[in-house]
Amino acid sequence: MNITIIGTGNMGRGIGTRLVAGGHSVTLIDQNLESAQNLAKDLRKVHEGANVQVGNLGQSIKDEIVVLAVWYPISLELAKTYAHQLAGKIVVDIANPLNSTFDGLATQPGSSAAEELAALLPEGTKVVKAFNTTFAGTLVAGQVAGQTLDVLIAGDDEYANNIVAALVQDGGLTPVKVGGLQKARQLEGLGFIGITIQGPLGYGFGSAWRLVSPA
Ligand SMILES: NC(=O)c1ccc[n+]([C@@H]2O[C@H](COP(=O)([O-])OP(=O)(O)OC[C@H]3O[C@@H](n4cnc5c(N)ncnc54)[C@H](OP(=O)(O)O)[C@@H]3O)[C@@H](O)[C@H]2O)c1
Repeated sequence: MNITIIGTGNMGRGIGTRLVAGGHSVTLIDQNLESAQNLAKDLRKVHEGANVQVGNLGQSIKDEIVVLAVWYPISLELAKTYAHQLAGKIVVDIANPLNSTFDGLATQPGSSAAEELAALLPEGTKVVKAFNTTFAGTLVAGQVAGQTLDVLIAGDDEYANNIVAALVQDGGLTPVKVGGLQKARQLEGLGFIGITIQGPLGYGFGSAWRLVSPA
């Protein structure tokens, strides 16, 4: 599959690494083209023959799947500015919408960054919440302490959820579909808890949530 990633920071690298490792083609878009070019150079080393392209923010997006690897509320700004380009696509929201003091979420109770994003995009656009509970470095490594990562996925469109789940699986991770897009509220809460416990536990953003199955 062909996936466009907007944002080539830590998470652009992490998700890009897993997508390329899974044999998929990636187009990297950033407001800073040099950042996209540098990441592309690294991703081409992940998988021999990897198809990694770069592009400018604002250029037309040909891929059906677009990952917004940017901070909230920049994700919302992009949705407003590029709504016509994202229309009808699978848009993956990965944001943990922390407030300015990092002690809570910036979203209102009864909502989520993913739902706010969906409300800004044209009808028929399929927003999927994913990857907000997995830290960037663990995505690059593809594992923590020898264990695969769970990627929690929420969305209202089953086709889109299944596509994202397949990408996750191809990248060597375990997809866990948790329900409709409203479940993004809980996923963003879990993402927030995951962030706040790193310091006290001394895990340095190297841990992962894992659902352990019965024997
Ligand atoms: N880091 C994690 O472990 C982690 C885990 C789960 C979820 N997340 C979520 O992932 C998202 C990205 O986090 P990150 O750690 O990857 O951040 P990051 O390393 O700071 O990367 C953010 C990217 O967004 C780009 N950007 C900034 N302003 C922009 C704009 N106005 N238009 C377009 N692109 C813009 C940046 O470009 P420049 O370099 O040019 O500024 C950079 O490429 C956040 O929503 C975060 O909550 C992060």
